[in-house]
Amino acid sequence: MKKRIAAMVLSACMVMSMAVPAFAEEETESSVDLSAVETVTEGVLTVATSPDFAPYEFYAIDEDGNATLAGFDIALAGYIADYLGLELEIVTVDFDGVLSELQTKSVDLGIAGLSPDPDRESIMDFSDYYYYGGQSFVTVKGKEDLFTSLEDTNNPSYSIGVQTGSIQVDLANEYSPDADIVSLPKVTDIITDLLTGNLDGAYIETDVAKSYATNYEDLVLVLDVPYDVEGGAIGVSKGNETLLAAVNEAIAAALEDGSMDRFVAEANELATGEKYEGLLEEETETEALTE
Ligand code: ARG
Repeated sequence: MKKRIAAMVLSACMVMSMAVPAFAEEETESSVDLSAVETVTEGVLTVATSPDFAPYEFYAIDEDGNATLAGFDIALAGYIADYLGLELEIVTVDFDGVLSELQTKSVDLGIAGLSPDPDRESIMDFSDYYYYGGQSFVTVKGKEDLFTSLEDTNNPSYSIGVQTGSIQVDLANEYSPDADIVSLPKVTDIITDLLTGNLDGAYIETDVAKSYATNYEDLVLVLDVPYDVEGGAIGVSKGNETLLAAVNEAIAAALEDGSMDRFVAEANELATGEKYEGLLEEETETEALTE
């Protein structure tokens, strides 16, 4: 289900990122004419994300007990909106929805731990990398010994989870083609099914698996999975070259001025702390935030 969430009600993490002075570009001599950036809605930067992916994007609990969007992708979205002098609007969808929102140009950006997979280049442009990380095969305690190599995962008796639309589908098809590959809309669904025994293993981004493993001790990362594209980039509405250039400039600034490091540290802390929302379903938890 698609939800539009006003920037005003975003997490503390967001609010902090908004403390970055607006129009910072005036001080840093932007090489891009930021006033020429065109967006889907004038004056607004519309960003699609899939908040099932701690520490990139997830739900945390604010002081009033409400579920709020958090994570370093959300903080980066706020930074970029500020950099461009635009208001931020976040659209939450499942991950395959992030891809289709970009494809239909309903949003300006997709910020969702997106791997710049060459197969996606026909439906979006990619920014420069803003984060680096690899891939893992994950299982639960007690099943570690079943998976000592990627060949072990390629067995018809195993059910292996992947997120619909993700590059993890490709990894499963490559390394575990004989297994029962189960594609689920949310990474949090995959984790639930691993914990309840419905799945034997799953392909998940390493830092995401580590984050959930901190909260769910039964999860274990057992294998590193080779993948060519080791990192995350922003999906930009295809053909919007001024926006792409401006986003790359904002990413460079966030990496340069220490903001990105701070966003990652804050997200990691929040994702492993008691304010974390865990696997609870967004549909019921975020009603108060939706318009
Ligand atoms: N990096 C992977 C991909 O691009 C998975 C991203 C999933 N993101 C999410 N927010 N669930 O396919």
